[in-house]
Amino acid sequence: MKKILFVCLGNICRSPAAEGVFLAKLGERNLSSKFIVDSVGTSAWHMGERADERMLHHASKRSYDLQSRARKVKESDFDDFDLIIAMDQSNVRNMQKICGGRKHHAKYFLMTDFCREYQGEKEIPDPYYGGEEGFEKVLDLLEDSCEELVRQLEAGEV
Ligand code: 4NP
Repeated sequence: MKKILFVCLGNICRSPAAEGVFLAKLGERNLSSKFIVDSVGTSAWHMGERADERMLHHASKRSYDLQSRARKVKESDFDDFDLIIAMDQSNVRNMQKICGGRKHHAKYFLMTDFCREYQGEKEIPDPYYGGEEGFEKVLDLLEDSCEELVRQLEAGEV
C-alpha cells in the first residue's frame, strides 16, 4: 500500500483538486485499494474547511467530487507518507521549514514533474486571487500530471 500526500498553501484549491483527480484516475483503473491518498496545506488558515467554492464548481463540471477537509501538514506526515507531491516551490520551502531539516521517509516531488502534455510547466499556479480561468488551468495541469503519476506508480518507476 503506497501513501501519497499532495501539498499546497491553503489546502482548499490545488491540493484537494489533485487528491480528487488522482483518486478518480485510480478508480478508473481499479487501483483505489492500493493507495492511501490525502492532501494538506502548509498553513492552518482554512483548517476544517471544504475546498473553495470556485474549485468545487470547476472540479464538478469535470465530474470530480472533492470531499476533503483542510488540515495543516504535521511532522509525522513526513514519515507516514511515501511520496509528498507539492504544487509549487514555495510549498517545498515551507515544508522544509516545518520538518526542520530532519531525516524522514517521504520522497518529495513537484506535481509538474509529472506533466507530459504540459511538459515544461514549473508549478501549479495558485488560483486563489485570480479569475475563473486559473481554476481551469489548475485542473488541466492536474489531469495531465495525475495521468502520468498513475502510470509511473503502476510501472514501479516511482
Ligand atoms: P491553495 O490556494 O494553496 O491552492 O489552497 C490558496 C488558498 C488560500 C490562500 C492562498 C492560496 N489564502 O491566502 O488564504
